[in-house]
Amino acid sequence: MNIEKILSKGPEETRAFGKHLAKALKKGDIICLFGDLGSGKTTLIKGIAEGLNIDPKKVNSPTFVLMNIYQGRLPLFHFDLYRLEDLYGIRSIGYDEFLYGDGISVIEWADRLGEFLPEEYLKIEMEHKKLDERVIRLSARNRDCHYESFMH
Ligand SMILES: Nc1ncnc2c1ncn2[C@@H]1O[C@H](COP(=O)(O)OP(=O)(O)O)[C@@H](O)[C@H]1O
Ligand SMILES: [Mg+2]
Repeated sequence: MNIEKILSKGPEETRAFGKHLAKALKKGDIICLFGDLGSGKTTLIKGIAEGLNIDPKKVNSPTFVLMNIYQGRLPLFHFDLYRLEDLYGIRSIGYDEFLYGDGISVIEWADRLGEFLPEEYLKIEMEHKKLDERVIRLSARNRDCHYESFMH
């Protein structure tokens, strides 16, 4: 398990990192995001969207649904499980089919998945440091993955 640690000094940096990371993403990739409210998860996803040729303005945390789909170089499935009440909720939207489908999945509040956490994923932990500083930690779970070359 490799861990890369990045210090972001502002939302633009987090976005730029997401954009950079997106270049390495392939169909079927899953990114699980961990971190408190305001730690920058959605900001990072806006950058990922941009890197997939999706207008980042379209990216907002789904408020009344658990997932949004955006079309770009690949489809981006954006899950936000903040309001997830029970795990049956994600089953009802066909969570697995998206995850193992032909797009890229990014999951905010992935800790809520419990036993439904996928076997293989890129783990991204975000931590609020100071006003505009966030620490971003990346590690690959159960996969020799192609992300590594894009982390620098
Ligand atoms: N370095 C940074 N990276 C990401 N967001 C930052 C950073 N510094 C300040 N912010 C601000 O923190 C907030 C993060 O919000 P958001 O991305 O919605 O977080 P989350 O989805 O984790 O709740 C935004 O208002 C953003 O402008
Ligand atoms: Mg969010």
